[in-house]
Amino acid sequence: FPPARIRNFCIIAHVDHGKTTLSDRLLQATKTIPERQMQDQLLDSMDLERERGITIKAHPVTMRYEAEDGESYQLNLIDTPGHVDFSYEVSRSLSACEGALLVIDAAQGVQAQTVANVHLATRQNLHLIPVINKIDLPTANPAAVKRQLEEVLAIPGEEAVLASAKEGIGIAEILEAVVRRIPPPQPFPDGIIRALVFDSVFDPYRGVVLYVRVRSGELARGQKILLMATQSVYEIKEVGVFNPKMAPQERLEAGATGYVIANMKSPLEVKIGDTLTSAHHPASEPLARFQEARPMVFSGIYPLNPADFEKLKTALSKLQINDPAIVFTQESSAALGSGLRCGFLGLLHMEIVQERLRREHEVEILATYPSVVYQVHLTNGKLLEVDNPLRMPDPSMIESIAEPTVRAFLLIPTERIGEILQLVLEKRGICESTESAGENRVMLRCRIPLSEILVDFNDRLKSLTRGYGSMDYEPAPYQTEDLIKLDILVNGEPVEAFSCIVARSRAESRGRAILSKLRELIPRHLFKIALQAAVGSKILAREDIGSVGKNVTAKCYGGDITRKRKLLEKQKEGKKRMKTFGRVDIPQEAFLQILKTE
Ligand code: GTP
Repeated sequence: FPPARIRNFCIIAHVDHGKTTLSDRLLQATKTIPERQMQDQLLDSMDLERERGITIKAHPVTMRYEAEDGESYQLNLIDTPGHVDFSYEVSRSLSACEGALLVIDAAQGVQAQTVANVHLATRQNLHLIPVINKIDLPTANPAAVKRQLEEVLAIPGEEAVLASAKEGIGIAEILEAVVRRIPPPQPFPDGIIRALVFDSVFDPYRGVVLYVRVRSGELARGQKILLMATQSVYEIKEVGVFNPKMAPQERLEAGATGYVIANMKSPLEVKIGDTLTSAHHPASEPLARFQEARPMVFSGIYPLNPADFEKLKTALSKLQINDPAIVFTQESSAALGSGLRCGFLGLLHMEIVQERLRREHEVEILATYPSVVYQVHLTNGKLLEVDNPLRMPDPSMIESIAEPTVRAFLLIPTERIGEILQLVLEKRGICESTESAGENRVMLRCRIPLSEILVDFNDRLKSLTRGYGSMDYEPAPYQTEDLIKLDILVNGEPVEAFSCIVARSRAESRGRAILSKLRELIPRHLFKIALQAAVGSKILAREDIGSVGKNVTAKCYGGDITRKRKLLEKQKEGKKRMKTFGRVDIPQEAFLQILKTE
């Protein structure tokens, strides 16, 4: 295909507005996938994605489309993830495109992430086609969404295509709009090989597969290529497109999107966002640079059974292959043994990785309270970065501590503004501005410490606005705060995994919240258990868990022996998922649930 008949585009949307469903419809309409192979949400391949209904990895796919002008076009669609934690993947995908379908739920309207995505897309000069989806819903209000488009995003309402991905309405119109409104790629005229690496996956049989967008020149088997950031040279073994499975091609031409397999052994050799060029006639400058994905949240992951450490390490290395955003180093703890300190993009990313370890790799793990990266200014003038509460130096050595903050954009119903401002305040944030965002809605711009966003901010926002509020955030500068380490003691022994850094002013309330959660989660023992929250040697709060009789079957009067046996079995089973501290068994669940405190 000549560049004039290629279109590279992606779909951007707020979570659940229907990107994946719409992608599937486009594949169907262009007969990229035969009807009988069509499986709902084909692009969401991982089980977990399917279950949680979220797209984690972006998958490109090439379609062939016969347009109304009688020409045939190559349409390259890049599906993008929708959750805040993964917005770095969105910006990567955007830079491989000339245009984007902006999907908006006809019942929900413009959401915080819709706004954030539009900002990202316009910064990259993408042409946007608004698609108002789910018009089949009885609560759909396309006219109101059009007004929001104009008022909030300054996009003319008449540009919107009305659609229902579910019912197949508006699909033909969308395909035509892609061809007519999205500009074709414009390769550099010098013919020098330049391709943007916008993603990579690891295939156990073929090695590293690079997802590329060719900006100029042509890629073919046998070429010697240079990756500019790492300055390493490889030989191309295969090039091809996704239809949506990998389909080898003779070559990838300027303007095209596809894949490259070279003799690359480890995914860690690839820097996403790098420029691929010819080793013999390299480009003088790389294509636009990317921000590297930076881990924002750290947590220690330990095997519940210390003998499983190697298994855990292997499992995490395997996950890292397809998700290089995970970083980890080895660490050890007196109480927990050997473990891994892991960095994640955000809390959802962390939960997903932990769940995949358990589910796909069958390692029972215990995760420590997540932490952000603190900048600790020491009295000796040195600066220390601390991502683990246990590594926080003695207070006598600390001059000051700064914590990362975010700029959060909250789009909420106007009548909820009081409650939301209260929430922002409670989370040590400040509201910098409020702006009307169409009928009955306002956009709040706030500065909030990242650590406060992590715990339950989004859940609280959702419940206070009955699901109508949404948020998005971007990193903002560090800010000095009076922070201290809060320890949780179980029968007088500090449990490292529960230690966290908190603002001094919030230490007591956070301590109480954690204790009451633990009280629910730790089962009764044969003896009384004292739970305490402490800062240094000062106890701020205490809760007790009373003792219980010897035998769980004691409550089963009468002689139902099978029921008794079942209970004993269950007790044994439960024990396996516990970690013993001193004489107290703490269920694995406690290490995850502790974050869900209010
Ligand atoms: P993320 O990948 O998590 O961002 O979600 P997504 O934007 O890809 O949304 P997805 O396609 O998974 O759709 C979310 C939900 O909306 C699913 O339950 C779909 O069945 C439903 N849905 C999608 N399109 C339509 C539509 O046109 N009408 C109706 N009624 N429901 C739809």
